Amino acid sequence: MAEAHGAADHRRELLACLSGRVVELGAGTGLNFAYYPAAVTEVVAVEPENHLRGRAREAATHSPVPVRVVPGVADAIPLEAGSCDAAVASLVLCSVADQDAALAELFRVLCPNGELRFYEHVEADDRRLASLQRAVDLVWPSVAGGCHTGRDTVAAIRSAGFTVDTCRSFDFRPCALAAPTAPHVLGTARRPPR
Ligand SMILES: C[S@@+](CC[C@H](N)C(=O)[O-])C[C@H]1O[C@@H](n2cnc3c(N)ncnc32)[C@H](O)[C@@H]1O
Repeated sequence: MAEAHGAADHRRELLACLSGRVVELGAGTGLNFAYYPAAVTEVVAVEPENHLRGRAREAATHSPVPVRVVPGVADAIPLEAGSCDAAVASLVLCSVADQDAALAELFRVLCPNGELRFYEHVEADDRRLASLQRAVDLVWPSVAGGCHTGRDTVAAIRSAGFTVDTCRSFDFRPCALAAPTAPHVLGTARRPPR
């Protein structure tokens, strides 16, 4: 439902003009794969969950670029330091147990000047919605695969050492139940050159 209501467009925007070797963290069922541009030479899609990994492997067979789906977790990405031109985090930094560890790993696997593309739902600016998110987050992670509705993900990206180049904030609520996860960001950050 989210795809037809705008998420597909967000994914296209997220991945536009990427090139080279890309690591995608927590690829899920592979919903991003269809939108990788032809200049991407390889996507290494890391997915810890067996069932989702199987579905991602199926999606990879229809991808316009080569996609290798591998097991792994955010705080131990199975790639060499500096081996990727870009990294993609979409709707995953809400769910990882340790956001700082995940971002440190993304930083590690990127080459100097490598780009992090992010598409995440985040903490609300609106005080009332932010306090609703804090209340919801007492139970939401236990029923939604570890997802937290109200993380300040852009601050965490900066704290990890990235320079945020662009960040577009918008509300996206594909259904009424998604109200606590409506505030989204979509942007690019960069691992500084050495
Ligand atoms: C809401 S889904 C998003 C899937 C996909 N990125 C997308 O945009 O559709 C969250 C994903 O994060 C993954 N995930 C959760 N914890 C993770 C971790 N510690 N390391 C890597 N992936 C994780 C889940 O297995 C799931 O695939």
